[in-house]
Amino acid sequence: MSDLVQRVREVLPSVRRDLEDLVRIESVWADPARRGEVQRSADAVAKLLTEAGLRDVQIVAEGGAPAVIARHPAPPGAPTVLLYAHHDVQPEGDPAQWDTPPFEPTERDGRLYGRGTADDKAGIATHLAAFRAHGGNPPVGVTVFVEGEEESGSPSLSRLLAAHRDTLASDVIVIADSDNWSTEVPSLTVSLRGLADCVVEVATLDHGLHSGLWGGVVPDALSVLVRLLASLHDDDGNVAVDGLHETTAADVDYPPERVREETGLLPGVSEIGSGTVPQRLWAKPAITVIGIDTTPIGKSSNTLIPRARAKVSMRVAPGGDAAEHLAALTRHLETHVPWGAQVTVTPGDLGQPYAIDASGPVYDAAREAFRTAWGAEPVDTGVGGSIPFIAEFAEAFPSAKILVTGVEDPATQAHSVNESLHLGVLERAAVSEALLLANLGSERQVAP
Ligand code: BES
Ligand code: MN
Ligand code: MN
Repeated sequence: MSDLVQRVREVLPSVRRDLEDLVRIESVWADPARRGEVQRSADAVAKLLTEAGLRDVQIVAEGGAPAVIARHPAPPGAPTVLLYAHHDVQPEGDPAQWDTPPFEPTERDGRLYGRGTADDKAGIATHLAAFRAHGGNPPVGVTVFVEGEEESGSPSLSRLLAAHRDTLASDVIVIADSDNWSTEVPSLTVSLRGLADCVVEVATLDHGLHSGLWGGVVPDALSVLVRLLASLHDDDGNVAVDGLHETTAADVDYPPERVREETGLLPGVSEIGSGTVPQRLWAKPAITVIGIDTTPIGKSSNTLIPRARAKVSMRVAPGGDAAEHLAALTRHLETHVPWGAQVTVTPGDLGQPYAIDASGPVYDAAREAFRTAWGAEPVDTGVGGSIPFIAEFAEAFPSAKILVTGVEDPATQAHSVNESLHLGVLERAAVSEALLLANLGSERQVAP
């Protein structure tokens, strides 16, 4: 075993260079102007997997972003493990708020900064490291699947799955796209929330009006919109939409100081909602307003705004159905609009939540790998984020065991400015995955 750990350490410098090259590619699928970059990113991933010794490397697309599939055939009697990551990244936001350029990987204090260094190009790096550490010949079958539109809600995933079902079929699915408890303690992610979003538009007037002539008599659309959005929560910040699902979170201690430290909540600002932190983060629905279209201040004049819209994003607790939640949110928006204003709700993305029963030999093999690699007992955690891939693959391959691992840590700032990867976490994640492949190859009870 310790030989394998040593080999991971040997391959890490090259993996690190490859990760940096991937981070330099601006693979933002959500930006139509950068779809060529997503293609370049898929090409780069395919090349790396080919060089690592995987076979049948193909770049595939079904009307959406290019994904990469590569295979290493299973030795007789051994299980096949699907290794998942995504090569698309979130938009970088305001470059001026980054301490170093978002697409120029930069090391500071043991962390590698740059968009996608952690979410989720480090997932690709982890798979490469584990495969290389086994000299390109692990004792299990390996199928690598690297998606290109996860950050856009995976709209063509079901078509990809239908088109490549036989190639993707596997006994164990490892999703390296989640968080860790800390940089020293790994998490085994056992539940994720789902996601449902929509755009709500309100209209009160046919055209703008002089706000002095008509203000006080007819409503402007933005005032209507903010009242409508305010109705989504009660005064304590609990979601106030009827018909949403709540479950029970894992019993884990999450002190309030930790929330403050991990979020950068400003002095005097309180938390919202009731219940423990894990309950609110992992087991209750959440609603956030993530964008708004209205007259910008620079263009404002004394005019009543005739129409305005907002994008509303909802997280769905495990056990709930994303489509039913979107219907409940739509009903709420349609029935809570003040003053008879016109309201139109346009449905957006849906992703189902997922909860895993993390017991049995595969999870034992994973925990043992974590324990050896990190020198710490892994914590079963939920996460508030979503990976729609999981529920889709769980449905397609009901007997596959799903392991959600990750390379993020509480300081990663995924989706925000100054995203970073802890380089020690990358090493421990790579060692864990290499050991996991070894454990799965030697555990007879895991064989198909
Ligand atoms: N890696 C995240 C999911 C995640 C977030 C796992 C936090 C663990 C902790 C993933 O890339 C992501 O951001 N997913 C999106 C999905 C959405 C676009 C459907 C999300 O959660 O917003
Ligand atoms: Mn991700
Ligand atoms: Mn993400």
